[in-house]
Amino acid sequence: MPPRTDVRPRRRLPLVVTADVDLLDDLLRLAAAGGTEVEVAADPAAARARWSPAPLVLVGSDQAQPCLRARLPRRARLVLVGRTGAVDPGWEVAELIGAEHVATLPTAEPWLVDRFAECAPQQDAVARVVAVLGGRGGAGASVLAGGLAVTAARARLRTLLVDADPLGGGLDLVLGWEQLEGLRWPALADADGRVDPPALVQALPSRGDLVVLSGDRGDPLPLPAPAMAATLDAARRGRDMVVIDLPRQLDDAAVLALQAADRVFLVVPAELRATAAAAQVVTSAAPHCTDLAVIVRGPAPGRLKAAEVARALGLPLAGTLRPEPGIPRGLERGEAPAATGRGPLAALCQRIVADLTGQQVEGAA
Ligand SMILES: Nc1ncnc2c1ncn2[C@@H]1O[C@H](COP(=O)(O)OP(=O)(O)O)[C@@H](O)[C@H]1O
Ligand SMILES: [Mg+2]
Repeated sequence: MPPRTDVRPRRRLPLVVTADVDLLDDLLRLAAAGGTEVEVAADPAAARARWSPAPLVLVGSDQAQPCLRARLPRRARLVLVGRTGAVDPGWEVAELIGAEHVATLPTAEPWLVDRFAECAPQQDAVARVVAVLGGRGGAGASVLAGGLAVTAARARLRTLLVDADPLGGGLDLVLGWEQLEGLRWPALADADGRVDPPALVQALPSRGDLVVLSGDRGDPLPLPAPAMAATLDAARRGRDMVVIDLPRQLDDAAVLALQAADRVFLVVPAELRATAAAAQVVTSAAPHCTDLAVIVRGPAPGRLKAAEVARALGLPLAGTLRPEPGIPRGLERGEAPAATGRGPLAALCQRIVADLTGQQVEGAA
């Protein structure tokens, strides 16, 4: 495999919110034991900008009430930390600020070291992570996600395609893989510990270099955030490329995926109403993304230009897709998008995968 140029954005660090210097000393020591640096904010005002993007937030018991009053947005992986004997942080305020855990030191020290370790840079982590969102229903997000995954696998990158849309009907259908044996989300949704990458890959439906973690067509189940965290953790170490197909209504698992993504693409049909709907998706998603860009899909019945859509959303334009009648036809026949390596979708996917990995991606043979 040719060498990769490193295009990975700066790693996001856990955020500690406390003005208590003794508590901060303890937390810095535990973070170092877990192998990560942290960002520190003394109060909610200093914390606000880093609150949503941080992979983990620890609020000291001294800042619980101020954070509550500051009405910081709810988020996953929020922990309230205090010391035994100090003012008890208490479950009541923990619940009010939406904390998942109350960690009391020193008892919770090993647990906190583990949480920090999950945020540490992993020497063997090579996977690039891309997430795809639709600006409205039927925008083409799942098809783009499928196309990206197929394209990456065609380029011999070990790829995992993750279905994070509980109401998507199962992403395996986009690939025509609904008959392939292997686990779907419902069988994995209890996972909360570390998932061993080879074990994960072996349990999932796969063909060649492409593995898919899909929903099924049973009763819709919410995706637990810990299962998503464990899956992404394993995939980052065991794969070259991870593509995540997200729902438009962001749940905790989707927020985790956005935070893990090196790049996020929002697919928007070139229509006024789609642009208006997409603006609402941007409002909820943008705070969690370091790199969010638009892909505009034709046709444009009112001749709306791709650049105008991107400008209206205040986001960079990452690409355009001409209408491709072969795609809906192929989907009905169980043909995976971009599988031939030809056409506008395949060309866009090849460019995105090449940009992300620094690796040449060939089109049709
Ligand atoms: N690039 C494309 N060209 C033509 N039709 C497309 C394209 N992408 C998606 N479609 C059509 O739009 C439908 C919805 O796409 P999908 O990816 O499921 O949308 P979303 O995931 O955003 O809801 C597909 O079933 C397909 O028929
Ligand atoms: Mg979809």
